[in-house]
Amino acid sequence: MSSMDTDLIHDDQPYKNHPYQGKQIKTLPLASSMGAEVLDVQLKDLDDEAFEELKEALWHHKMIFLRKQNLSPADQLEFTKRFGELGTDAYTTGLPGFPDVQPVIKEADTKSKIIFGGGHHTDSAFLERPPSISVLHGIEIPPYGGDTIWYNSVMAYESLSAGMKKMLAPLKVHMAADRVIGSMKKVVEQTKNMTSMTDIELEIDIDAMMRGNFHPMVRKHPESGQVSLYVDGVYSVNIEGMERRESEPLLKFLHEHATQEFFCCRLRWEEDTVAIWDNRICLHRAFNDYDGFRRELHRTTVMGEKPQAAFES
Ligand code: SIN
Repeated sequence: MSSMDTDLIHDDQPYKNHPYQGKQIKTLPLASSMGAEVLDVQLKDLDDEAFEELKEALWHHKMIFLRKQNLSPADQLEFTKRFGELGTDAYTTGLPGFPDVQPVIKEADTKSKIIFGGGHHTDSAFLERPPSISVLHGIEIPPYGGDTIWYNSVMAYESLSAGMKKMLAPLKVHMAADRVIGSMKKVVEQTKNMTSMTDIELEIDIDAMMRGNFHPMVRKHPESGQVSLYVDGVYSVNIEGMERRESEPLLKFLHEHATQEFFCCRLRWEEDTVAIWDNRICLHRAFNDYDGFRRELHRTTVMGEKPQAAFES
């Protein structure tokens, strides 16, 4: 039990994650807080109306997934581009012939304390324009284990007290990759020559990742207007204008607050499951609990905007 357990949010909160019903797109919610399965469509066949509805369903549920998708790397790229320009991939070189499709792989015989995406994070938040949307396609999935879990950052913000919201409104969080690089250094025991994370070939600019960027701690979704807490457990390293020893207790509280189980949904992957999530309004992490089994997924991302503050200071 953590010291916060007496103050946790409990499961008697109002239900927020109602099914979405459009003309073509309908969903089955996964948990009370977020996440939903989109039923009876193939992503590569969506017409414009269905795609607009899919986006609305995504803003509403924060993470949506579809089973039994017939999607080649080329199809995945075409689908991802419908959301806008492809995102900067700060980590990998991509699949052969598809530099914008990033493999996320852990081999059956690999034993590693760190895996790609293993801490609570929002994708590549150290970038000036972090990815807005990520698309992850299950290629080879362990028979059990290897789930991904997401947390609703809008609910996390809404459940803070008025006093805390007021204090956070003008703050900027320094997002940088110190912790990722630190863990990789421990494992790989190399400094400027880290070329792999478990089984993924890396192409990273360590200096830029460590420099990072300052983003509003409370941000506004550019399309839905939803207000969310933009703090994670991986990239949030400091608060603008503070010493790290000053910001650390607040960042620790916000990370623990944002990753309470009541805000989450957890996906059990299958081959040809595709999950789509909006990094602006949720956190996620992968479980590293499937030693002995191979796991491979293909990831594409959409270039996000420079995060906008929800409230002008
Ligand atoms: C990621 O963080 O994008 C990877 C998540 C996963 O492998 O489940």
